[in-house]
Amino acid sequence: MATATPNLPQPPNFTCVKSLSESSALTSIPSTYTFTTDPNQLLAFDPQHSIPIIDFSLLTSGDADQRSRAIQDLDQACLEWGFFMLINHGVPESLMTGMIEACRGFFDLREEEKREFQGTHVLSPIRCGTSFNATVDQILFWRDFLKLFVHPQFHSPSKPAGFSEVCLEYTQRIRKVVGELLKGISKSLGLEEWYIDKAMNMDSGLQILTANLYPPCPQPEYAMGMPPHSDHSFLTMLIQNGIGGLQVQHKGQWFDVNPIPNSILVNTGDHLEVLSNGKYKSVLHRAVVNNKTTRISLALSHGPSLDTVVEPVPELSHPLTYVGMAYREYLELQQGNKLDGKTSLDRVRIRTM
Ligand code: OGA
Ligand code: NI
Repeated sequence: MATATPNLPQPPNFTCVKSLSESSALTSIPSTYTFTTDPNQLLAFDPQHSIPIIDFSLLTSGDADQRSRAIQDLDQACLEWGFFMLINHGVPESLMTGMIEACRGFFDLREEEKREFQGTHVLSPIRCGTSFNATVDQILFWRDFLKLFVHPQFHSPSKPAGFSEVCLEYTQRIRKVVGELLKGISKSLGLEEWYIDKAMNMDSGLQILTANLYPPCPQPEYAMGMPPHSDHSFLTMLIQNGIGGLQVQHKGQWFDVNPIPNSILVNTGDHLEVLSNGKYKSVLHRAVVNNKTTRISLALSHGPSLDTVVEPVPELSHPLTYVGMAYREYLELQQGNKLDGKTSLDRVRIRTM
């Protein structure tokens, strides 16, 4: 494993894939982007539409029976997939599309303007770039990104106009939804509903917005938008501009995610795996690219406060499978290295399961 390199100077004058993709001469991808995927791992489909669906209105229902059934569904979704589509969540569609368009506006800024927000460290509260860690990635990913720490302090680029207002509204709204999901998950783990909220200091929990831009790629089968990885937080909430590309792994097979319109995609992250002592595993996922349309996705991750040491809940710790690590340290580890499956979790795992 590469050593941790939390300081991340981008190569000077890094080139966005957006600019590369827009250069008219581009008919094949530069070799620095050529990714070879095991052919057995290339296929993904979901003919049965088998990805679980969770109805948020039932999870927050005043009817105790309805609520407890929704919590059982949530338990199953986290146990079997670590991934689900959340419907009836109450977040206005106009706010979701407004946020996606605001991010498009950011990516449309000139390269020099974006470079102002490059950031110097994996914990820089505003950071944009290309690939994942352009300084350590041997093969570059077909992706540009903007990452913002939006809670407990709200950070936002000063451009484009109107960005920060919609970003604040969107991220606050999603935080409320996540609060309810974590109550449901606390219950499905057999704990009191405020358990995660209190034990993990969610009032000062770190919420990170990652906006991903995947421009059209002339040879999508040889490029990768984002390689297989798990997310570091408890829960990630993802929306996209109607263009597919996200795939999740389930029982060793890749599944295409074709979300129900207006749903929010939710996945469990490494820290839910640690907290639940391995009951809810973080899910491996990746983003593939296409040769027709620009895809934008917004992933909003929700973790504890940076100084919280996450360890398995005592009631679930027999036998204990993970050691505790401060969230800050874990973030530096995961974000400062090559993005590689679930290797960061190996650093806190005690025994193989
Ligand atoms: C992420 C992520 C997938 C996508 O940002 O962590 O997994 O569909 N994104 O863009
Ligand atoms: Ni992810």
